Amino acid sequence: MALLLENLRCIDPALGLDEHCNLAIKDGRIVARGPDVDIEKGVRRDLSGRIALPGLMDMHVHLREPGEEYKEDLASGARAAARGGFTAVLAMPNTVPVCDTGSRVAFVLDKAAQAGLRTRIFVAGALTQGLKGTSLAEMGDMHRAGAVAFTDDGRGVQDSGVARRAMEYCRQFGTPVLSHCQAEDLAGAGVVNEGVASTRLGLAGWAAAAEEFMIARDIALAELTGSALHIQHLTTARGVELVRAARERGLPISSEVTPHHLFLNEDCLDEDYNTALKVNPPLRTQADNRALQGALAEGVIDCVASDHAPHAAHEKALEFELAPFGTTGLETSLALVLTHLVRPGLLSYAQLVERMAHAPRRILGLEPVSLSVGSVADITVLDPELRWTAGADGWESKSEGSAFAGSTLIGRATDVYVGGYASLQDGAVQ
Ligand code: DOR
Repeated sequence: MALLLENLRCIDPALGLDEHCNLAIKDGRIVARGPDVDIEKGVRRDLSGRIALPGLMDMHVHLREPGEEYKEDLASGARAAARGGFTAVLAMPNTVPVCDTGSRVAFVLDKAAQAGLRTRIFVAGALTQGLKGTSLAEMGDMHRAGAVAFTDDGRGVQDSGVARRAMEYCRQFGTPVLSHCQAEDLAGAGVVNEGVASTRLGLAGWAAAAEEFMIARDIALAELTGSALHIQHLTTARGVELVRAARERGLPISSEVTPHHLFLNEDCLDEDYNTALKVNPPLRTQADNRALQGALAEGVIDCVASDHAPHAAHEKALEFELAPFGTTGLETSLALVLTHLVRPGLLSYAQLVERMAHAPRRILGLEPVSLSVGSVADITVLDPELRWTAGADGWESKSEGSAFAGSTLIGRATDVYVGGYASLQDGAVQ
């Protein structure tokens, strides 16, 4: 059945497109685009006042299945993605058991397919067996089973020799290494940034150097091996400069930043000891926020990824030192970027599309999506003026642990199409 999305502002920098038009969709693809495009019969949706973008992708999410379905599962994660405006996500391998063999990659992909989830779920395999950092995981097996990237996210690979060999394998498969940069001997038992916050709150500090040191090491290893390297959740100005310098030397280094590291910092932590603000790596400083925002606008940082890390309420209700690291992110990421970067004019819509739709797929070597005729109909529609309070109408995620709960946001996805089918319609997950 044909579908006509009418009266949209359509934006896609890959096409140099920013114009008011209609989109006709049939058999999962965009079949016509233009101000007068019509269909003979089918479903029409008037989306006046709204903006259509190529479907957004979040390349860093924790969906917790298998093993920790009480925190999240593929279905609830897929719904959270749709609610937040995403058509695709990349699931991290720190599940129980760890996703470190081909059959475990296949399990996640098959489960998602059997459940008929409308969000596209891609899978990252582990670099090392059990995320232990000692023996390489079955990377070839996982690649054959459909893993599109490799990472020990949640932990850094401490042994430089193991990290080097992991990169050598990834280079053969043409897949990027996604690097969680954390030198465990330097980070120690740190739970907040080492500096003002740790001193003020009497909590163990986690030095920025523990992250920057590993970024520098991994850049050196990428140069040595020729592997593509993607730095996950950058948090500091110095980290940005390391990435910038490596790129200027022509190395294939990409990076991401989370909304919480863009818009929150250690000053947000107070005597409430709000564990939703306990994240790995920790919130840094206001100066780091500015550097990260600038680098994202400039394109030194390629993309926004949420590091959606759902935990159960009883786990986050522990003392700050004992609570697990992580905040949810899928349902607020787009709105935060709209509110704090696009609205004030720090990022254009075209740049948002590049950072949240095109760059993640390019980094992962996935098929691009666009608003061109013939493209698969993966489309994010947003209302730029919709004012809402994060969490006020509940969450699709099983977790309520959002660092942004209660924030006023302006702009929100209202409709999401994946292969021509709605995963979100008028704000309701389908
Ligand atoms: O805050 C985080 N939580 N950072 C990570 O790297 C892992 C994640 C998790 O799995 O909970």
